[in-house]
Amino acid sequence: MSDEIQASLRIKELKELIRFHDRQYYILNTPQITDFDYDHLMKELEALEAGFPSLVTPDSPTQRVGQDLTKDFPAYKHRFPMLSLANTYNIEELYDFDRRVREILGESTLPEYVVEYKIDGVSISLTYKNGFLTIAATRGDGEMGEVVTANIKTIRSIPLVLDKAIVEKYGLAEFEVRGEIFMEIAEFRKINEERASRMEKLFANPRNFASGSIKLQDPKITATRPLTIFTYYLLSEQPGLRSQSESLALLAELGFKVNPLYKVCSSISEVITVLQEFEEMRDTLPYEIDGAVIKVNNFQHQRQLGFIAKSPRWATAYKFKAKQAQTTLNAITWQVGRTGAITPVAELEPVILAGSQISRATLHNMDEIRRKDIRVGDTVILEKGGDVIPKVVDFVKELRQAGSIEVPVPETCPVCSGIVYRSLEEAAMYCQNSECPAQVKGRIEHFASRAAMDIEGLGEALVEQFVERGVVVTYADIYDLHLHKEELITWERFGAKSIDNLLRAIEESKQRPFYRVLFGLGIRYVGIGAARKLAAHFKSIDTLMNASTEELLQVHEIGESISNSVRAFFSNDHNIHLIGRLKDQGLQFVDMQAGASANPEFSGKTFVLTGTLQRFSRDEAGEKIRQLGGKVTSSVSKKTDVVIAGESAGSKLDKARELGIAIWDEESFETRLKEIE
Ligand code: IVH
Repeated sequence: MSDEIQASLRIKELKELIRFHDRQYYILNTPQITDFDYDHLMKELEALEAGFPSLVTPDSPTQRVGQDLTKDFPAYKHRFPMLSLANTYNIEELYDFDRRVREILGESTLPEYVVEYKIDGVSISLTYKNGFLTIAATRGDGEMGEVVTANIKTIRSIPLVLDKAIVEKYGLAEFEVRGEIFMEIAEFRKINEERASRMEKLFANPRNFASGSIKLQDPKITATRPLTIFTYYLLSEQPGLRSQSESLALLAELGFKVNPLYKVCSSISEVITVLQEFEEMRDTLPYEIDGAVIKVNNFQHQRQLGFIAKSPRWATAYKFKAKQAQTTLNAITWQVGRTGAITPVAELEPVILAGSQISRATLHNMDEIRRKDIRVGDTVILEKGGDVIPKVVDFVKELRQAGSIEVPVPETCPVCSGIVYRSLEEAAMYCQNSECPAQVKGRIEHFASRAAMDIEGLGEALVEQFVERGVVVTYADIYDLHLHKEELITWERFGAKSIDNLLRAIEESKQRPFYRVLFGLGIRYVGIGAARKLAAHFKSIDTLMNASTEELLQVHEIGESISNSVRAFFSNDHNIHLIGRLKDQGLQFVDMQAGASANPEFSGKTFVLTGTLQRFSRDEAGEKIRQLGGKVTSSVSKKTDVVIAGESAGSKLDKARELGIAIWDEESFETRLKEIE
């Protein structure tokens, strides 16, 4: 036998062994070998594959962590939309749900229900072709998600390849699995404790951490995050499956992780009993849930029930009551945001709520504190609902002590002692001093953020240091940072390499198009959409600066608050000076569309992008079109001039054909771009 054949046999054996042990460990929680022995198998496989690179296949356990960085996550059109669920909050609403279901199914049918926990994670769609995981996509807006396959492959409880015999037995040549990616609470805490010991910023909660982890550019980092999955849905053209409970059983048989805590009930009253048990058990679960999902079990019944808008009529989510805790309100401090808005923060005696220790919570605004008469020293009731930030909802009247103190309204800015302006209609207070360090930090963070200048590495912690040490006061100072390189090297935790990376990212950000610079300037009410419209209309900052309120109001969808705010911004000498500096530093203050508008292939035309493009992200493709004078919209209509269709384009492409609209594939789009360049 040749070496290669021998190697290929052993490789096959090792892959199967590793897959078997992955399943035992990550899915069934019953490891059969020690970590040491497992590593040994892995090393042997790696060595053999290194010797015979042609024998490496994408489904090999060694290929879970890809080497390549993902620059962006291509858009993905879901074959079937990823729907959301209607919510019910009390038993009455559940009876209503059951009544509606029975009305449609007919008097004589008594539907069965499956009750599952609603996992508080990130939903994911996994496509398998011929038994191999081919695409993992996020939910996105339900219609269009993003391809995150490289990161998802690092999750060991997700099989890369399935048992051929089972795939064939059920005719699963191509199918989709949906589930929820999450992180166990204990794992999450461990990571945050480690981060705290290194003085790094903490992650807010397991869900945000999980969703951030699947959108990282480097799958090697995702691989270090202890993510896992519960799958709950199998979609296939040739299912032969009759019910949700059968579907869950098949998922488990195929080697997917299925939450075993689900119950099949034969009536709504049984569902309600199960929900009570589920609610009582929630604190004992190792992961976060935000309720339960009740699904009509029988698929034939599900089909009969159908959908309304974006939710199925055959399922509903039951939200458990928000978790509450009581603790003492020690003090109220004030936070100042980038716009100068001053908001109250409750400083609390630390207490455990929904599994995490809470020492701060939001109090919304001063009016709310007054309305509820919450005072320092009170025993307050904290609540954590579906959202991340806990809030103070009330205080316990019986426990109010004499001497509780009414919260004084700050007379001056709590950060810079500047003058405070009180806006009555917004029930808000603002610090008037635009140089207030809190505002400066907020503005710089916004300017560097992803949607604006996207300066990688310039996050909260670094901005804080720069502002506190007085190195950065305005945006323009960011572009002078290279002059301080020698000084930066002397700073703690700032190596030469990270400085170089940061300076490179700063330099690179000078290429961002005008509308993103405009958005980055942080003009009040000017979000990314308004920035785009203003840039497209006025073409350059000079024209925009000189535009009158009337001229601003002529721009489609630009209303009074935006135009007043733009006028106010450009009436300030400090801002004019700042823009002058940024211009000298080489930022883009002219809309590139203006220069390229002569291009007849794009200029003045309306484009729709659909399907997955291989070489561009949606944003990149859209940007190119806009730069060349075209407009990008999301739906195909008679007004559409061109549809650019990537792989697996669906209904939009069909519609374009129906309406006789020009269709370009990715290649012809690229060829046209090249010709122009
Ligand atoms: S079924 C059409 N089952 O909740 C129904 N969803 O609002 C599809 N979720 O996006 C969802 N646990 O991310 C279902 N056991 C479960 C779930 C679950 C969590 C999430 C899922 C979905 C959202 C629905």
